[in-house]
Amino acid sequence: MADLDDIRDGKDFGLDKPVQTEGYFLKGCSHLDWGTKDRLSRIFRPDTGRTVMLAFDHGFIMGPTSGLERVDLNIVPIAQYADCLMGCRGMIRAAIPPTLNKPICLRADAGSSILTELNHNVVIDIDDAVRLNASAIAVMVAVGDPATEAGTIANLYHAVDIGQKSGVPVLGVTAVGKDMARDATYFSLASRICAENGANVVKTYFCEGFEKVTASCPVPIVIAGGKKLPELEALELAWKAIDQGAAGVDMGRNVFQSDHPAAMIQAVSGVVHDGLTPEQALELFDTLKADGV
Ligand code: R5P
Repeated sequence: MADLDDIRDGKDFGLDKPVQTEGYFLKGCSHLDWGTKDRLSRIFRPDTGRTVMLAFDHGFIMGPTSGLERVDLNIVPIAQYADCLMGCRGMIRAAIPPTLNKPICLRADAGSSILTELNHNVVIDIDDAVRLNASAIAVMVAVGDPATEAGTIANLYHAVDIGQKSGVPVLGVTAVGKDMARDATYFSLASRICAENGANVVKTYFCEGFEKVTASCPVPIVIAGGKKLPELEALELAWKAIDQGAAGVDMGRNVFQSDHPAAMIQAVSGVVHDGLTPEQALELFDTLKADGV
């Protein structure tokens, strides 16, 4: 029961202190709804504005690829060093303990395998993303692929429609098919198409002239790592991407295929969040490695 005999008039309304109306720390996200911003603030660290996403969704296309043979053994022990985990619903439910309490970017389209490359993907039900407490859903867009371009853009459009209803942000993943260009002109086009169609974050690849890709995209960009590189080269890739405007990485193989994944993800995080140069990050990697990490 309300205590009707104890209704006290408020006294301090801070009349000399205007309400702060500053924007939001992520580019292009100031006008999103509270729940969407809350979810994005779980993926991107508000203190740095950046993220280290650990991608392990590869199995839904590639099967049990190297470094992901046992997600419970390969990913769970290093998940603590990531800001966000990106995976598929089956593997998340099967292998990721909810007690990790890590934000999830849920791979939300399906329909392709490594055997047939790009296909006509479908988007999962938003209810399942909400059940998984997803902080974002990720959908691939195949700009320039004659067979799947329209369908995958429609998928993104649909994902944004259903995501917005529940305040779940959408990450647009720019696909790179076998015959697609991998340059700044292509990635600018693909990233911009994702953003214009409503993606709140875009995942693409680093390339020569990458600053053009980030500058022409109105929302944050994270880069995929791509094929496994020597550690220093992967750290250089992350450093250059951040230097040229990326808001983080969504890295998989360069972490989980490293001989020392826990050391590698901490080194990547050093670059993304702590301003380490690639050489300093490699030193951190080597120190952690020597410590048996
Ligand atoms: C690509 O569509 C997958 O979603 C991967 O998550 C992405 O490529 C990042 O992984 P990697 O760093 O291994 O390229």
